[in-house]
Amino acid sequence: MARFTDQVALVVGGAQGIGKAIGVQLGREGARVVIADMDCPMMEATVREMCAAGSDARPVPCDVRDSAQVRAMVKQVIDWYGRIDVLMYVAGIAPSVPFMDITEETWDNTVDTNLRGAFLVSKAVTPHMVARKRGKLVFMASTNCWDAEASLGHYNVSKAGVFLLAKTLARELGPHGINSNALGPGFIKTRLTVPVLNDPEFMKKYDPARGLIPLGRLGTPEDVAGPALFLASEEASYINGVLLFVDGGQLA
Ligand SMILES: NC(=O)c1ccc[n+]([C@@H]2O[C@H](COP(=O)([O-])OP(=O)(O)OC[C@H]3O[C@@H](n4cnc5c(N)ncnc54)[C@H](O)[C@@H]3O)[C@@H](O)[C@H]2O)c1
Repeated sequence: MARFTDQVALVVGGAQGIGKAIGVQLGREGARVVIADMDCPMMEATVREMCAAGSDARPVPCDVRDSAQVRAMVKQVIDWYGRIDVLMYVAGIAPSVPFMDITEETWDNTVDTNLRGAFLVSKAVTPHMVARKRGKLVFMASTNCWDAEASLGHYNVSKAGVFLLAKTLARELGPHGINSNALGPGFIKTRLTVPVLNDPEFMKKYDPARGLIPLGRLGTPEDVAGPALFLASEEASYINGVLLFVDGGQLA
């Protein structure tokens, strides 16, 4: 299946983890993929891997907390291809800190990366979509935008904001032919979750015997890539403003 032939897809935060799985799958399905990330060695390795597999992929360094870098990154994509058909906003961090210990710096850094970055990137990308009267926006929220997890107040709030940003853009940009949706992954095995994966006390609640996740296993980046591509595809052309949980039924 090549649902994205000749489409230009920008994956922000695509160097590794969920973003990488999305970029790889978009490349397999014919998209010209641009990976933007602040982790340059990992981003370049991912792009090399994708090109070696026959995909069309390019890297652009970008720290989403810096509006000048965001504008330059989007300009680079437009200079290359003249358009952006699909934006996947995946960049995110999730430092675990109890509310009583959180510093302003950790709060700001989390909100700046997860939410303000989504704002800056969509602000830079959407004028190009509006001009063509087409475009797909997919934002990575989380089950945490609904289910408040302890020690992640800053993260929970940022992801709730991402969900509302996706919904707001669905309302404001739908009339311009743009779909805007969010995904809510549950517990996915990536670098982001390594600290808790290595914490036996924390992992007790995810013991399959306790049934927290009805499907009985943690998720993989590929489990999220499929739904992300679905939301960006023509099959989802009448879906706008939804939050699609990808959590094995954890919130069921
Ligand atoms: N792993 C999970 O369980 C899970 C669950 C729900 C939601 N999510 C969300 O999915 C997204 C991807 O998470 P992941 O698990 O793949 O994490 P990851 O750490 O493997 O990947 C995150 C990517 O974002 C990039 N990034 C971070 N800060 C950035 C910045 N300032 N500028 C540019 N790039 C930056 C990183 O370099 C990295 O490549 C995040 O938004 C995360 O909140 C993850």
